[in-house]
Amino acid sequence: MIVVFGSINIDLVCRTDHHPRPGETVPGSDYQLIPGGKGANQALAARRAGANVAMVGAVGADDMAAAALAELTADGVDLGAVVTRGATTGMAIITVDRHGENTIVLSPGANARLKGEDLGAVRLGAGDIVLLQMEVPFAESLAAAKAARAAGARIMLSIAPFLPIERAALAAADIILVNETEAADLARHLGLAPGRDGAATVATLARDLGRTVIATLGGDGAVAATGTETIAVPALPVDPVDTTGAGDTFAGVLAAFMDEGASLAEAMRLAASAGSLACTRLGAQPSFPRRAEIDEAANQDGALA
Ligand code: RIB
Repeated sequence: MIVVFGSINIDLVCRTDHHPRPGETVPGSDYQLIPGGKGANQALAARRAGANVAMVGAVGADDMAAAALAELTADGVDLGAVVTRGATTGMAIITVDRHGENTIVLSPGANARLKGEDLGAVRLGAGDIVLLQMEVPFAESLAAAKAARAAGARIMLSIAPFLPIERAALAAADIILVNETEAADLARHLGLAPGRDGAATVATLARDLGRTVIATLGGDGAVAATGTETIAVPALPVDPVDTTGAGDTFAGVLAAFMDEGASLAEAMRLAASAGSLACTRLGAQPSFPRRAEIDEAANQDGALA
């Protein structure tokens, strides 16, 4: 089973030709309200890849809560550990430019009220995988990680968005997920020199932290350093429409295939394909591929041959 302890948002998305500079107003498309949040996104991506998934998160007592949970509900993510706390559901205000690149302003709402002890509503077993990100208070994620580890679960931490985490706290994770920018930020924060590329930076981080570190590299796929090996997998050649949620797709799908017993290399390959597919459609959750689509794309790419 996969348990996601993290954020649930509603994304207010507007497309525009280019992102506004400070003080500039730019015309945009009609807005859309789309379920999102890094935690909920990872839960849905894992579920669509075929895993049993439970979500631990918080929504507000407002009209946005049901909308934020709509896709998780429809796809059968276990929401028994989602609590209602405070007035507002988390909202991400997102602009997407003509290149598919986004900017995000995050209003945390109920996400700021999630507690580590809320993980206790889920029955965790040895070998389960717990996914954490950085959109709920990190002290609470750390408390959840400690409880999960005591139950024998494996911990995957996405340091997204980047926050300067203490070195000791990073030891709570078995696998650390970053993008290329976050990898360099983490290296600098730890007093290490970022490498000349993502592969070099994750190798430095893995050596220093004694943990598996995986970086997503956009159109260049993903790279992992485990301490004993380096694994690089390609992305699919796609024309991105919207990259929102691609990293979350990678994390959720990676966890789903690892939960099935796939090797790290195979799980990364499938996760990178899924992340590419998520870039071909607007929005976070509606863009996440289902298992059949992931398998088909990976087969075409020769990944499962
Ligand atoms: O990673 C993408 C997510 O980040 C969006 O869905 C938005 O909610 C923000 O939290």
